[in-house]
Amino acid sequence: MIFITQLKKIVVISGAGISAESGLSTFRDTGGLWEKYSIEEVATPEAWRRNPEMVTEFYNLRRKQLLSAKPNAAHRALVELEAHFDVQIITQNVDDLHERAGSSKVMHLHGELLKVRSSVDESLVYDWAKPEVKLGDYCEKGSQLRPHVVWFGEEVPMMGPALREMMDADILLVVGTSLNVYPAASLAYAVPDHTVIYVVDPGDMSHAGLNAHHVRGKAGEFLPGLVQELIEEWA
Ligand code: OAD
Repeated sequence: MIFITQLKKIVVISGAGISAESGLSTFRDTGGLWEKYSIEEVATPEAWRRNPEMVTEFYNLRRKQLLSAKPNAAHRALVELEAHFDVQIITQNVDDLHERAGSSKVMHLHGELLKVRSSVDESLVYDWAKPEVKLGDYCEKGSQLRPHVVWFGEEVPMMGPALREMMDADILLVVGTSLNVYPAASLAYAVPDHTVIYVVDPGDMSHAGLNAHHVRGKAGEFLPGLVQELIEEWA
């Protein structure tokens, strides 16, 4: 007799907090990026039209920091889950730290810093591993290269595929996100009733109203332990 055992499915929604211990700033914590920069000046299509130099500079700085950052214990712990579960990561982060840690299924909702694209044809996307994009760097159609990120006011093309991943989640891990930005945040509420939800975040997260087990602490310190518990309890 042949038995097929299906792996349980874990979906991870990650945000800036998972990369904080790698030295990358979050957005809304004290000292976070949106305290130093205004969203309207660096993260909207209007900002790009008004002042492409400032927008390009903002993302050049992010890219430069990313290139010297390394995955931390939280990114690595998620890789361990793959030996026991079907793991899908859905990240709001534009960094590549999940991939560099070794996670195999990573979906980027808000784009990727190490890619750029044409500003006239969004299907022209290019890998970009250098820190700097300059005004005057053009796509093959002769238009300025822009960051391959989703700005406020733009569509989130990966929402459809991300929502489909939520439908059969046995376990949902929400790690390092304030769940303030929609539509991404809505994913956490789109799982079936039986899905077991864990939130790993040092903040109190009461605003999120999720029916979740809250592991209140930094991801790099607490996620490795939670991963071991999940393997023991659920795999
Ligand atoms: P936020 O800055 O809004 O939230 C970061 C979350 O991480 C907060 O809940 C913190 O408490 C938590 N945190 C801080 N340090 C942590 C640590 N060491 N371990 C675990 N958690 C920690 O960042 P996001 O929710 O990711 O979008 O922000 C969502 C989106 O808003 C971003 O993708 C970006 C931003 O504007 C765009 O630019 C479109």
